[in-house]
Amino acid sequence: MKDELKKVKKEILNHLKKVTDLNSLSNLETKYLGRKGEFTKTLRGIKDLRKEAKKEFGQLANSIKKELDNNFNEARAVLEGRNDNDTFIDVTLPGERIEKGSLNPITLIQNELEDLFTSLGFVVLDGPELESDYYCFEALNIPANHPARDMQDTFYIDKKNKEDEYDMVMRTHTSPVQVRAMQKYGAPLRAVIPGRCFRSEATDVRHEHTLYHFEGIMIDESISFSHMKGILTTIGKKLYGEDTELRMRPKFYPFVEPGSNGEFTCFLCKGKGCRLCKGSGWLEILGCGMIHPKVLEYGGIDSKKYSGFAFGLGLSRLAQLKFGIEDTRLFMSGDLRFLKQF
Ligand code: DAH
Repeated sequence: MKDELKKVKKEILNHLKKVTDLNSLSNLETKYLGRKGEFTKTLRGIKDLRKEAKKEFGQLANSIKKELDNNFNEARAVLEGRNDNDTFIDVTLPGERIEKGSLNPITLIQNELEDLFTSLGFVVLDGPELESDYYCFEALNIPANHPARDMQDTFYIDKKNKEDEYDMVMRTHTSPVQVRAMQKYGAPLRAVIPGRCFRSEATDVRHEHTLYHFEGIMIDESISFSHMKGILTTIGKKLYGEDTELRMRPKFYPFVEPGSNGEFTCFLCKGKGCRLCKGSGWLEILGCGMIHPKVLEYGGIDSKKYSGFAFGLGLSRLAQLKFGIEDTRLFMSGDLRFLKQF
């Protein structure tokens, strides 16, 4: 009798699987579970059993009946296009709040500068982060074995093939894109290049192995030092307000001649001297200069006809100063408690 019950159950489930419309579903239900149905008939047989057997089979039969009823109900729901899960969605419940991200402070400053420069007719360019030794140093007038290479320790990647002339490096600055841009677009040219750079640094609050630079070049006939001063002054005013002044002092960079640094009036003390500017009243923000004729030539530009200026600044440092962030490592930390403040 036990086997018989299970056999009928299996038979019913097999049929149930094949049912594709409501009509045959209800026929199937009548055939087996209806008053005169086959399963019902088997159940009736229980009453002729002895007392203990009656109890045992009664329980089994009931649980199978329940199971089958459920199976039929489910099949009916599917065929009627109802899905029980849907039925219980309460549309009046308040929605789940979607967390809104915010821009990294470095991106905020980068956007601000890009806006300024595109409004001045500069294009925004990009370049490879894994760069050849040639573009990163050689074409910027920093030959192999030149002591200036020591200024920028980087990650060298072994040559792919022994015959390759140059090693590959994780670029230490965005300046290599200067030459790439000259080769691609020629002169006249006005471009800014924001991007990620890498240094093999022992990291601390002011140094990080991954940092962001913002490079600019302007090349045309008779571009002079005063054009550069004009543009740099505009950057200072844009970043720190109208009363910001520019101070320039000679500084050596192999790819410019003459080379200079660029300092702006300390925005915190307005030039009086404070902790931020270490008492000097000035913040050193950038490096710049008139593009070295050799670099123009590497870029395929006639240095007799054209001249230009270039500048580079550290976006990470700018953001650190602007938002008063003590530790530069926070920018890349992915720490939401830090990032959510911007
Ligand atoms: N590339 C330099 C650095 O990483 C910054 C720089 C200085 C860029 C002078 C320039 C420049 O274009 O003219 O420190």
